[in-house]
Amino acid sequence: MLAADLVFRSIGQLVTMVEDDRGLSESRVGARSQGALACEDGAVVWAGPDSELAAAVQPTATATIINVGDRVLMPGFIDPHTHLVFDGSRHLEFALRLAGADYLEILASGGGIHNTVRLTRQATRESLLQSASKRLETLLAFGVTTCEIKSGYGLDTENELKILEVVRSLAAAHPQKLVPTFLGAHVFPVEYKDRHDAYVDLVCEEMIPAVTSAGLAQMCDVFLDQGVFDREQARRILTTAAERGLRTRLHAGQFTDLGGPELAAELGATSADHMEHFSERGARAMAEAGVVACLLPGAALSLGMSYPDGRKLREAGVEIALSTDSNPGTSRTENLPLMVTLAVTAMRLSVEDALRGITCTAARALGLGDGRGTLAPGAPADLVILDVPDYRSIAYHFGVNHVREVFIDGRRVLG
Ligand code: NIG
Ligand code: FE
Repeated sequence: MLAADLVFRSIGQLVTMVEDDRGLSESRVGARSQGALACEDGAVVWAGPDSELAAAVQPTATATIINVGDRVLMPGFIDPHTHLVFDGSRHLEFALRLAGADYLEILASGGGIHNTVRLTRQATRESLLQSASKRLETLLAFGVTTCEIKSGYGLDTENELKILEVVRSLAAAHPQKLVPTFLGAHVFPVEYKDRHDAYVDLVCEEMIPAVTSAGLAQMCDVFLDQGVFDREQARRILTTAAERGLRTRLHAGQFTDLGGPELAAELGATSADHMEHFSERGARAMAEAGVVACLLPGAALSLGMSYPDGRKLREAGVEIALSTDSNPGTSRTENLPLMVTLAVTAMRLSVEDALRGITCTAARALGLGDGRGTLAPGAPADLVILDVPDYRSIAYHFGVNHVREVFIDGRRVLG
């Protein structure tokens, strides 16, 4: 008999993300009707049919027992790619783009990301903490229990550290688990406009050592694309970061395929993100090296661009994560479940793959190995209860929030 201090009973549909061999589409996400889940001390200890709960689990005298009813209970969502800490709004740039202006041209003329950098450099820690807190709360309302957050709007040592320190304060003030990523190589700051190699030196020789000595990041990202960092620069930055213990990833192929997937495979990166443009060779390299493709349908939606072909990547054997890419320029949203709908309608993913993309595969994209994104025994009891009868409704009934309750480490944090 297993002891449990938190038990969910009569779960209309329990979705564990632990694949089984029933051969049904439900098997891919480990879905079963009339399930039960038992947790002890913040971790899952047992998941199975409600009818077998009594024989397997002995609730403690003070255990909380919840009758879930005709709803879905599944792992808390994981958003593996956000730029949540920034100041200002880019609604005017959005309007300019609607009128025909081009994102990269706006950037090249000193607007876009540079506007956010100007404001973020001026902003105090307190105001950044306040605005990012609101966004993180909205993410929680949409069921996000783990969230990656990048720097990248500081672009000098002081302000990159400031942003990552804000992420540290966010982690202390919010229940969610955060994964901080250093993105000093987001764009070349205006003061290094004609000295790109000198900026790469600064990133490698000053910023990465400062960030890692202070323990402020777990991952390092680079924006590899036309007009920003090239492949050699990305290789140097990510190699330096890996030597200092950071896991690596990159923004690849958003506008042009510059061989990011091959580089991600060569470096053993956890993910290559965006992937609107990729070659078959690149997809094969990623599949062989086990690099996750982190697709960001909100960016394609907001930029009015074509979506990456998720099904083609799956057919090449690449695992797919999905993210909001929440940021002020290309994807101003916190609605992660909406990305599931976009992925199945515009990127040709199955609902099952799309839901894995915001749970277990998102955990892989972040290099997390503690079972997060599943409800397997031993995994942290990070979970959501959704007011839908079937997991397919998360994709089908879109744009509204179905989240009713959220638990992190077995503690109710919402609902
Ligand atoms: O993931 N493309 C690069 N970075 C972000 C956008 C940042 C911004 O425009 O502020 C992205 O789309
Ligand atoms: Fe991004």
